[in-house]
Amino acid sequence: MNEHDSERIAGLLTAEGYVPTEEAAEAEVVVLNTCAIRENADNRLYGQLGHLRPLKMANPRMRIVVAGCLAQKDRGLIQRRAPWVDVVVGTHALPSLLELIRRAEAEGPQMDVREYTEVFPSALPAVRGDRHRAWVSVSVGCDNRCSFCIVPLVRGPQRSRPLGEVLAEVQGLAASGVVEVTLLGQNVNTYGRDLTVPGSGSRSRFAELLRAVDGVERLRRIRFTSPHPHDFTPDVIDAIAACERVCEHIHFPLQSGSDRILRAMRRSYRSERYLSWVRRIRDSIPGIAFSTDIIVGFPGETEEDFRGTLRVVEEARFDSAYTFQYSPRPGTAAASFDDQVPKEVVQERFDRLVALQESISLERNRACEGRIVEVLVEGTGRKGGVQGRTRTNKVVHFEGDAAPGQFLDVAIERAHPHHLSGHPVPTAERDGLALAAAE
Ligand code: 5AD
Ligand code: SF4
Repeated sequence: MNEHDSERIAGLLTAEGYVPTEEAAEAEVVVLNTCAIRENADNRLYGQLGHLRPLKMANPRMRIVVAGCLAQKDRGLIQRRAPWVDVVVGTHALPSLLELIRRAEAEGPQMDVREYTEVFPSALPAVRGDRHRAWVSVSVGCDNRCSFCIVPLVRGPQRSRPLGEVLAEVQGLAASGVVEVTLLGQNVNTYGRDLTVPGSGSRSRFAELLRAVDGVERLRRIRFTSPHPHDFTPDVIDAIAACERVCEHIHFPLQSGSDRILRAMRRSYRSERYLSWVRRIRDSIPGIAFSTDIIVGFPGETEEDFRGTLRVVEEARFDSAYTFQYSPRPGTAAASFDDQVPKEVVQERFDRLVALQESISLERNRACEGRIVEVLVEGTGRKGGVQGRTRTNKVVHFEGDAAPGQFLDVAIERAHPHHLSGHPVPTAERDGLALAAAE
């Protein structure tokens, strides 16, 4: 979500005639777009602002802007601690960025941290990092109150974008050569809940949205993130199964495998229910891959609770997992819980979890060896060669010539925990769909 906002910030500035520079010293505008979800964004922000101060003194035309979650949260504090900041623009106020910069020139420091999104960031111009893949926001904000999470505090309650607007954006993107979109929302399963008339039934508008976007010609792949296990509904499974363009991959945040901890986290599903969704989804969508988010060391987590997480990980057999050490976010409920877990204990559990997941990821990837899969080329890999991704969201490396945005069939030779390697083959040899059915 934060990167998506950065694309809009770049888009607004570019539309105004600004051009990017690698040299902070010569910049007329410097924007620090902050994300406060996990690490200590504030230390990093004030560190960066300290570096910028002498540059600004040498170049008085420079305007410094702080945007994003921390701007929303810290508000006036930022300009009190760093009076050389010209503009503080919160998460809901991006559309007024240019106006704030102009006013800062005439009137001095500006701040807009309004509480309500009026214009969706996706409706603003964008400079996209990638010409073939795009994020599309379907909702902003979140109505849940997970006790570890800063998001509801800085993004506000959920606001969904009307289906027609989302569809129009996707159609425009597809017409301009985008082949893959990722629908973005904090909890896509409740998409549209705030748009429906009370009492009109609990029909999932997300399933409807998936089906609508699936009808967009020239688009090849649809992804979405993230569904909340509590709000998952069978019609979403049916839509994923029925929609050809929707990829066989679900990011399904677990957070913890201990029911006691889930309760303390205010996550309203329990581990057995979570696993039953995993089973049900696997049964209905052949070849589906799962990824997840897990937090280790939530306050009060005992060895027994942690073993609960390991058990669920063993059973769910995720293709990949993002694992995080719990980090208290000021202002959240869990930050004031008094049974915080010591750092060494968290680290030791974290290492065990990563080792277990790596072995499972490798096993899942090994199932791809000897298969031919459809790969969307993304660019050059870190060690040279070509890097792309399967529909199941697995990274693939291979040697050869291929341009970003191209689809190739790749025979997988070797599995690694975090990627696959192979070689391209003529399309006629493809059994990509057979692959999906066989897994
Ligand atoms: N500490 C650690 N991880 C967190 N996440 C969110 N808040 C915290 C926190 N305070 C993780 C969750 C979420 C992902 C985006 O970030 O796992 O799903
Ligand atoms: Fe945060 Fe929970 Fe909302 Fe996800 S569902 S954004 S973890 S409050």
